[in-house]
Amino acid sequence: MAATKLPVSRPTEVLTVELGERSYSIVIDAGSLDDLGTLLAERCQPQRCAVVTNPTVGKHYLDRTLAALQAAGFTPLTVEIPDGEQFKSFASLTSIYDRLLTAKLDRSAPLIALGGGVIGDLTGFAAATYLRGVPFVQVPTTLLAQVDSSVGGKTGVNHPLGKNLIGAFYQPSLVVIDVTTLSTLPRRELVAGLVEVIKYGVILDAELFALLERDLERLLGRDESLLTQIVSRCCSLKAAVVQRDEREQDYRSILNFGHTLGHAVEALTDYKRYLHGEAVAIGMVFAARLSRARGLCSDETEKRIVRLLERAGLAVDVPHGLSSADIAAAVAGDKKVSGGKIKFVCVEDLGRTRFELVTSQEIARLAVHRGADSE
Ligand SMILES: NC(=O)c1ccc[n+]([C@@H]2O[C@H](COP(=O)([O-])OP(=O)(O)OC[C@H]3O[C@@H](n4cnc5c(N)ncnc54)[C@H](O)[C@@H]3O)[C@@H](O)[C@H]2O)c1
Ligand SMILES: [Zn+2]
Repeated sequence: MAATKLPVSRPTEVLTVELGERSYSIVIDAGSLDDLGTLLAERCQPQRCAVVTNPTVGKHYLDRTLAALQAAGFTPLTVEIPDGEQFKSFASLTSIYDRLLTAKLDRSAPLIALGGGVIGDLTGFAAATYLRGVPFVQVPTTLLAQVDSSVGGKTGVNHPLGKNLIGAFYQPSLVVIDVTTLSTLPRRELVAGLVEVIKYGVILDAELFALLERDLERLLGRDESLLTQIVSRCCSLKAAVVQRDEREQDYRSILNFGHTLGHAVEALTDYKRYLHGEAVAIGMVFAARLSRARGLCSDETEKRIVRLLERAGLAVDVPHGLSSADIAAAVAGDKKVSGGKIKFVCVEDLGRTRFELVTSQEIARLAVHRGADSE
């Protein structure tokens, strides 16, 4: 993982994810969307290409994206998918294939994802499978996508029986992150993405955590230079994890901190009440509590995590009305179970974690107890 500065006036950050022949660059900057064509032309011949987006994002950024590509000699076509998690589906995938096949796009034509994690995951899987694989470019426009889903190569769609069940590891050839696109993101989405940023601080980077404690308000005010600094820090942290364990055979699962209970809370509230990050905030507080209950971390560590999430305006308690049996069943249904136990990510100190094997019943008991606590 190398961080270099480009010889331009803006403080562009360029990170390289080192994965042998699948290595790629992440360019992070305020305004980099306008450089998309030039950056892509450094990697492939200007040619036909396809931009996949949705109307919400397209309204703000599609014209600029197309103009940047055309200025560098590309001939882009646009594929628009309706906005929403329910469109991370086989039907959307088919509509992308239909469009590309009708337009006769060949195997060298890049697919560009312009949007949040839904568009990124869907487009990535289309790129992995169209004509057995075409170049894939990520232009993430949510904070969650900029710090998490656009890096690491997990792509896929939802199945009626569950989220993210069908997919492939497929690395992009380039990621272009323009933090100014966050200016139009609804605050609730920004805060939900911030949870993943806080997660990186908790599991890998105490300095980042302290920076967030100090500058939270500036970050929520979308200060561009702070956003560039923080997004780039998160991307290097994620890249380092992915470089060590690309296909989540072991170490990469530290990124699941807060997600075991978070996923259960999302599922038990029908994916309607909480955004993913909001449910993960509850899961992170729970993970800190479980860690403290096992004597792994101090009271102070748990309190700092709770305080920062609360300052961001997030709910931190397990919602009332969820039974311990429901939580146990939902947690056991999550994919991290091995031999009846769950490999649970605990925190030892800010920036330091360890895996513990925990039963779903233990998790459910403590989770419901917390609900009662907070009454
Ligand atoms: N591949 C991975 O490693 C990975 C990791 C985490 C999450 N995910 C996936 O990511 C998805 C969630 O991603 P998300 O949180 O970005 O949600 P999203 O893609 O649904 O975007 C959230 C909302 O913000 C809108 N939006 C996006 N950018 C905008 C902008 N700049 N201005 C205004 N509105 C904008 C979108 O249209 C949408 O309504 C889930 O499907 C999840 O499974 C994947
Ligand atoms: Zn997450």
